[in-house]
Order: sequence, then C-alpha cells, then structure tokens
Amino acid sequence: MEDLFGGAAPYYAKYRPRYGDPAIQHLAMTFGQGSTVLDLGCGPGTIAIPLAGRVGRVLAVDPDEEMLAEGRRLAGATGNIRWIKGDSTTLHDLPAFDHVVMGRSFHWMDRRAVLADLDELLPPRGVVALVGPTREDPQEPWEPVMRRVREAFGVNTFTASSSFQATGEHHDDVLATSPFSVLDRAHYEEHLPYDLDAVIGLQLSYSYSAPARLGDRRRAFVETARRELLAANPSGRWERTAVTEVLTARRPPRSP
Ligand SMILES: C[S@@+](CC[C@H](N)C(=O)[O-])C[C@H]1O[C@@H](n2cnc3c(N)ncnc32)[C@H](O)[C@@H]1O
Repeated sequence: MEDLFGGAAPYYAKYRPRYGDPAIQHLAMTFGQGSTVLDLGCGPGTIAIPLAGRVGRVLAVDPDEEMLAEGRRLAGATGNIRWIKGDSTTLHDLPAFDHVVMGRSFHWMDRRAVLADLDELLPPRGVVALVGPTREDPQEPWEPVMRRVREAFGVNTFTASSSFQATGEHHDDVLATSPFSVLDRAHYEEHLPYDLDAVIGLQLSYSYSAPARLGDRRRAFVETARRELLAANPSGRWERTAVTEVLTARRPPRSP
C-alpha cells in the first residue's frame, strides 16, 4: 500500500486535536463494556487509546508502521489494545470483533467493499461508527494563509481513495444505501487554542503536506509558513471551535 502519511505520525499524534471525552464516552456506551471493537485506520490510537479502558478489547489496525509505532508508544501499559498492521482489504484476516469505529479514515477506503465485508463479519447488532469533523465545520482561521503556502510548495491536494475521488459521494449516502442504513448522529463541540507551532505541526500531520511530500523543502516550508502566519496575525495565537460528529450505522431491525 502506498505510503500516505510518510513522516507525519509524530506530528499527527502531537498536533491533531483529540476527539474529547464526551465523544469517546458516546462510543463506549454504544459498543458496551465487554465488546471487542475494531478501530480501522487507527493512526496513532486517537480513538483506540481513550476507548480501550471502556470496552473489552480494541483491535487497532492501520497500514502505516509509523502510526502504529506512535500508538504503541502513547498507549504505554494500556493492556487491552492489539496493534495490527493491516487495512480495509484484510478484514477477513482479523480476529472476531463486535463493532467497528473509523476516525477520519473511511475516505481512504473502497467504502462499499468495506461495508460489504463488514456485513459478513459483524454480528447482527454490530455497529459501524464514523468519527470526524462535521460537513459544516467552519474553515480554520489560519487556512487562507496556509492554503497559499501549501500551494506555493505544490502540496495542497486533498487525497483519498480512488473510489472516493471518483464519486465524491458523502459517507452518509454510502451508508444509507448499504446494509448499515439506520443512521444516528451526535455532535460534540470543543473550544481549542493554537499557537504557531501547533498550526505548523498540523500541516506536517496531513497526508498531502507530510514530511515525505516536502522532502528537503521541509525547512523552507516551515520558515515560509511561520513568516506568513505572523504577517497575518502577529500575536501568533488562534482559537477555533471544533465540532466532532459521531455517526453510527446499524442494520435495520428484522421484521418478525
Ligand atoms: C487521518 S488518519 C486517522 C487516524 C485516527 N483514526 C484518528 O481518528 O485520528 C487516517 C489513517 O487511515 C489509515 N489508512 C489509510 N488507508 C487505509 C485503509 N485502506 N485501511 C485502513 N486504514 C487506512 C492511514 O494510515 C491513517 O493512519
């Protein structure tokens, strides 16, 4: 599988906002205490780590070794997570699981193929949960500046699986026409402060402007970003309200 996040893992772990306790608690309540949960596209354990103590066991699966290594490091002694190198095409190789969560990772997959596999693998009451920003999330306050900088370095292209790019279909519509068509959603708001390092670190956490994409232009990128951001906002401080959506999808109840 292509190296999508080359060198991004430490920046991802440090600078991407967490989802916040209420969102994690919502997932824990949905899945139930004794359940085995697959976190597919787990990254550095953004969901797996805070969820682990609240469910029976988490299978944390990702194709990126660096992300898994960062997850293992952050999880420390958290015992009930199993870190597995794998991806959306290897679901049949995994130990059995009761539910699935995907945090900002579904767009990397052939979504219909994944849902067809999950229909074979999940028990009747198995839940598919998607976690991420809402469709209506307002633009980050530094984004006009950073977009210009990324464009100047030729690293501004949003990336996703070829099937996502082909149709651009929203996750809701893919789920609604799948076996997991009963949808329910909740939103959780969090107010977040950012400084200059956090805004720049965030850029290095994105697949399209990850360190591997920048190569030996990384230092110039960071210096340009710093200069342009401070020119636009000399305080070097920003705030934003992040809204996390937890979208759960279940199979329709069987008619008697
Ligand atoms: C944006 S990160 C999300 C990490 C974490 N779930 C979170 O919510 O912060 C997307 C992750 O999906 C992984 N990924 C990419 N393609 C995948 C695939 N086909 N199957 C499973 N995971 C994939 C990437 O390696 C990356 O770690």
